[in-house]
Amino acid sequence: MKLRFLYIILCGTLSTGFSQNYEAKVDSLINLMTLQEKIGQTVMYSGHWDQTGPFVGADNGKYIREGNMGAMLNAMSVKGTRDLQKIAVEESRLGIPLLFGYDVIHGHRTIFPINLGLSASWDLKMVEESSRIAAEEASAEGIHWTFAPMIDVSREPRWGRISEGAGEDVFLNNEIGKAYVRGFQGDDLSQPNTVLACAKHYVAYGAAQAGRDYHTTNMGEGELRNVYLPPFKAAVDAGVETFMSAFNELNGVPTSGNKFTLRDILRDEWKFDGFVVSDYTSINEMIQHGFAKDSIDAARIGMNAGVDMDMVGHVYRLHLKTLVEEGKVSEAYINDACKRILLAKFKLGLFDDPYRYIDELREANTAYKPEFLAKAREIAAASSVLLQNNNKVLPLSKKTKSIAFIGPLVKDEADILGNWAAKGERGGKAVSVFEGVSEYLKANQILYAKGCDILNDDRSGFEEAISISQKADQIVLVMGENHHMSGEAASRTDLKIPGIQPELIKKIREANPNKNITLVLMNGRPLNLSDEVNLVDAILEVWFPGTMGGAATADLLFGTVNPSGKLTVTFPRNVGQVPIYYNMKNTGRPIPENNPKQDYKSNYIDVPNTPLFVFGHGLSYTKFRYSDLKLSSENLTFSSTIEASVKITNTGNIDGFEIVQLYIHDKVGSVTRPVKELKGFQKIFLKKGESKTVTFTISAEDLKFYNSDMIYGVEIGEFEIAIAPSSDFKFKHTFNLND
Ligand code: NOJ
Repeated sequence: MKLRFLYIILCGTLSTGFSQNYEAKVDSLINLMTLQEKIGQTVMYSGHWDQTGPFVGADNGKYIREGNMGAMLNAMSVKGTRDLQKIAVEESRLGIPLLFGYDVIHGHRTIFPINLGLSASWDLKMVEESSRIAAEEASAEGIHWTFAPMIDVSREPRWGRISEGAGEDVFLNNEIGKAYVRGFQGDDLSQPNTVLACAKHYVAYGAAQAGRDYHTTNMGEGELRNVYLPPFKAAVDAGVETFMSAFNELNGVPTSGNKFTLRDILRDEWKFDGFVVSDYTSINEMIQHGFAKDSIDAARIGMNAGVDMDMVGHVYRLHLKTLVEEGKVSEAYINDACKRILLAKFKLGLFDDPYRYIDELREANTAYKPEFLAKAREIAAASSVLLQNNNKVLPLSKKTKSIAFIGPLVKDEADILGNWAAKGERGGKAVSVFEGVSEYLKANQILYAKGCDILNDDRSGFEEAISISQKADQIVLVMGENHHMSGEAASRTDLKIPGIQPELIKKIREANPNKNITLVLMNGRPLNLSDEVNLVDAILEVWFPGTMGGAATADLLFGTVNPSGKLTVTFPRNVGQVPIYYNMKNTGRPIPENNPKQDYKSNYIDVPNTPLFVFGHGLSYTKFRYSDLKLSSENLTFSSTIEASVKITNTGNIDGFEIVQLYIHDKVGSVTRPVKELKGFQKIFLKKGESKTVTFTISAEDLKFYNSDMIYGVEIGEFEIAIAPSSDFKFKHTFNLND
């Protein structure tokens, strides 16, 4: 009997019953495997695909047959994954199924707003719903595993990948990361509509020097533990199945060869029992970092440090066996890595049925379901942030005689999906702003001119744009970045709206000194809008809002939906202020409130210290009044809690959502503490005129941090507290933590 069949029988008998003991099954399987086969499980290659799905490249087929490949990147579609899986199951010695992974970042077919935008909804349910839909669509095309969520805290708008995370705050990244994991993985991974999630990029990738992608990161262990590690710990607590080691070095040690972060923290402290995949060739890149002398050395360092799977680098397949034979890598490490990878395959149910994600009916009937599109529209609207609305120029009226829509993104159906748009089709499926507003206006009410492109300096369209702006009653500009300007390898040193768009905005204002101008912005990072705030009346930040983005934008412009998003990242006045974030430290020379320009204080000569738009900022078409902040006690102990509550009243004429934020300041610490820290938030709905009391419960647990001995704990003393609509407030209340 061939071993493959022996093994299938073994798994078949072992896999019955709900309380399956995967460990035992994996151990029996590992006992049947040669060293090279075990190494094979730690190897991931990239699939090839064309319009109709992947095809089996010559090398890939060979590696699969030899048992030299455990997982595949970028392989999908029912046809493609079946062809590949068939080779693994029927032609390799042990018939171990392959794992198919793909970057499903903010949607698979139905594309949701970019992750930074989605975070501005502060809506954990929506984050979970969007990743659930993404998992439904991706798994219907044979995908088992997504490389998301990215939970890199980042205070670096120059870094293009700030678009892929939940912004600058630790607490928000923790909560949002957990919601993504719940959405992707569901409650039961053996269901064929769930995918493995991957917490990435471990770790501190978002702190790249000067915002240049892949660049060096340097920080003390306190900052690492207090700012960059917590979202990853939260993901482990949420049950994330996989981690991705990053490209960057951290304090001189590449994170894909970093035993301290991968073994000491992730395995020993946090007890993570899933598997770690490298980023794309990040093990090999330790050579360029100057940390490994060649690819053999890189393989040795990667496996010894705790990277279980080599993404596309070929170094594990080629070198691990010799390294084990020479005693440079322990076979126990290979066994552990192989075991973790096999466990994930067991949990997905691939040993019960390797083809369980390969289902023609599901593939044909899942993408772009009407309910997915409706959700995408709702979520895109909730993710947009009304940055400015002078004289209440928004919402627009459907009765306006004519509105000029101007800009390179008015009719766009490609950039609107953002950078990591997975299999979302650019063009065709995506609803442009032009199509969106056409639901509200008749053709004769709409004037349109592209005006210019995003990047080149062709001004030939200016004349037409200016001319229609003068004919119209209202002007809406739809401008921003193109989708290649954020995401991976898309760092910028200039945060202005790119190209000649700012010049066109200026010219349109000059030609229309008294007309209302609204600027709708699509972009993947905080921009420097210092000029634009003075040139236009309203600014609606819609990020890259996804498949239904144009419809959602129109819903907001015409007031069918009341804007409710709030920034999860600070918008600086200029690039020189970067890094600028709300939870900075004080200095020994903070600027006096009444004299911000005072000499020898921590200020700038040319701009204020404050940003243009603060973290947590976002306007609504209604107004909310905060009053009566009450604390149930001014004394907290290690074993008690206190309740902080505030009354919030919708004082305007429109119903709306408000995002209520809880901030705390630890006034004196054995290491200095940030001037304020988000510790909670609630999104509430208030009808016009309605009031609600919002309550937060605070315990000593919320006040913990790592001190200089890297001990995680709390320190007794005085704390300031506020419940506010944004991070722009002054504390007025305090409580004490006593032992
Ligand atoms: C490189 C990126 O850094 C990572 O985020 C992504 O998941 C992998 N490539 C796979 O595409």
